[in-house]
Amino acid sequence: MKNIGVLISGGGTNLQALIDKQGSVIKSGKIVCVCSNSASAFGLERAKRAGIPSKVIRKNADCGGDTEEFSRRICEYMKEMKVDVVVLAGFLAIFGGELLREYSGRIINIHPSLIPSFCGKGMYGLKVHEAALDYGVKVTGATVHIVNEVVDGGKILMQKAVYVKEGDTPEKLQRRVMEEAEWIILPEAVEAFCAGKI
Ligand code: GRF
Repeated sequence: MKNIGVLISGGGTNLQALIDKQGSVIKSGKIVCVCSNSASAFGLERAKRAGIPSKVIRKNADCGGDTEEFSRRICEYMKEMKVDVVVLAGFLAIFGGELLREYSGRIINIHPSLIPSFCGKGMYGLKVHEAALDYGVKVTGATVHIVNEVVDGGKILMQKAVYVKEGDTPEKLQRRVMEEAEWIILPEAVEAFCAGKI
């Protein structure tokens, strides 16, 4: 049974999907902690309701804006909680350093597009769906991938396609991509990774 640490920044709907699928889809891992870079992240409330320990580590307020110190503090908490696999679920802060080195090959991210489309530096949240609609793609989706030093650049573990519909706004498309792709493939990919299948 692998210990899973989840990093969040906001609403935590992907964290909720992981929590809800524990025991059904996720059988080879257990969420042992949540870490947020924002004290106001609703995902912290989701963790509390699920009885999962959590910690806030803010890059500016707690780490003087230093990315190395921020990465070190998060890594320290992950090791304190005996985390084996780190999952970024809507985590929007840039990190690197000790966390990336210590957990190399064991950090998983969910991105709301079919990488290599609409990804990379500055491509997150609604901006991804605005770019997809601006380009006029007919199909988008979500990607689960291993995190490395390149933003959205690591090995792809799982993808799921979602059709763009007439009249879609970025908000409507984001919601559909979450419901029909993110909340499905993230738990599936986390289970497969914890089980050593991918
Ligand atoms: C989602 O679109 C996710 O793909 C992206 O962050 C957004 C918010 O996720 N990484 P959540 O509701 O905080 O899980």
